[in-house]
Amino acid sequence: MLLEVHELNTYYGMSHVLQRISLNVNQGEVVALLGRNGMGKSTTLKSIMGLVKPKSGSVTFQGEDITGYPPFKAARAGIGYVPEDRRVFPNLSVMDNLFLGIKGGKIQDPNNSNTWTVERIFRHFPMLEKRSRQQGRLLSGGEQQMLTIGRSLMGNPSLLLVDEPTEGLAPLLVKEVRDILEEINKAGVSILLVEHNIKVALSLADRVYLMGKAHIGFAGTIAELEANPETKAKYLEV
Ligand SMILES: Nc1ncnc2c1ncn2[C@@H]1O[C@H](COP(=O)(O)OP(=O)(O)OP(=O)(O)O)[C@@H](O)[C@H]1O
Ligand SMILES: [Mg+2]
Repeated sequence: MLLEVHELNTYYGMSHVLQRISLNVNQGEVVALLGRNGMGKSTTLKSIMGLVKPKSGSVTFQGEDITGYPPFKAARAGIGYVPEDRRVFPNLSVMDNLFLGIKGGKIQDPNNSNTWTVERIFRHFPMLEKRSRQQGRLLSGGEQQMLTIGRSLMGNPSLLLVDEPTEGLAPLLVKEVRDILEEINKAGVSILLVEHNIKVALSLADRVYLMGKAHIGFAGTIAELEANPETKAKYLEV
C-alpha cells in the first residue's frame, strides 16, 4: 500500500473536524475524496501533508510513519501537494515557479527517464513552455492551475494530493486539467483527488470515499457507488 491513513483525528481549536478518518491509496490508483462543502476534505489532505497536525491517528507512506511530519519532510518522502488556492508566485517567472518545486521534493537522477524535469513537464504542458519567461501573475486561472500541478511534479512525487483542481475553470480547461491528471497518473503518479465536479472525479478515479461531516460515510469502487443511488444523493450534490 502506498498511503495508509488510520483513524486520524484533527481539531481546529475546539472543533473536531476530522473524526477517525481512515483511507488508503494503492500504487497506481486515482482515489477520489468527495463530499459537500465544509465536510473536511481539504483538512484531510492538509493532515496528510503536515499542514495541520492531527491530534491522533497515523499516516503511513511507503511503509514509513510520516504522522506529524512538517510539509517539507512529507514532500521529501514523495508526496506532492496541489493546494486549493494554487499559490503561484506572482512576481516570479513560470520557469522560476517550476524550479521552486524541486526544493522540498525528492532529489532524483535527471538522466532517469522517470524523473520529472522541466523539459518533461513542458511536453505535458506546452502552454507553460510558451509562457516560461512570463510572470506568474499574468497567467489565467487555468494556466496557474497547470503551473501548480507542474510545480508539484518537479518534486518527483509518488503520490499527488490534489485539492479542487478544476474549481472556477471554464469547461474547456476543466477537460484539459482532467486529461492532464489522467496522463500524469498513467506516467506512474498515484493521485488522491478532492473534486467538486463529480463527473470529472468519477471519470478519473478507481475508487471513491465520500465524506459526511468530519467522517467517511462511504468507501467503494465507482461501480459500487453507482449501484447505490441513495448513498450518492446523501453525500453528493447530484
Ligand atoms: N483554519 C481553520 N480554522 C478553523 N476552522 C477551519 C479552518 N479551516 C477549515 N475549518 C473548518 O473545518 C471544517 C472542514 O473544512 P475543510 O476546508 O476541510 O472542508 P472541505 O470539505 O474542504 O470544504 P470545501 O468543499 O468547501 O472546500 C469546516 O467546518 C471549516 O469551516
Ligand atoms: Mg476544501
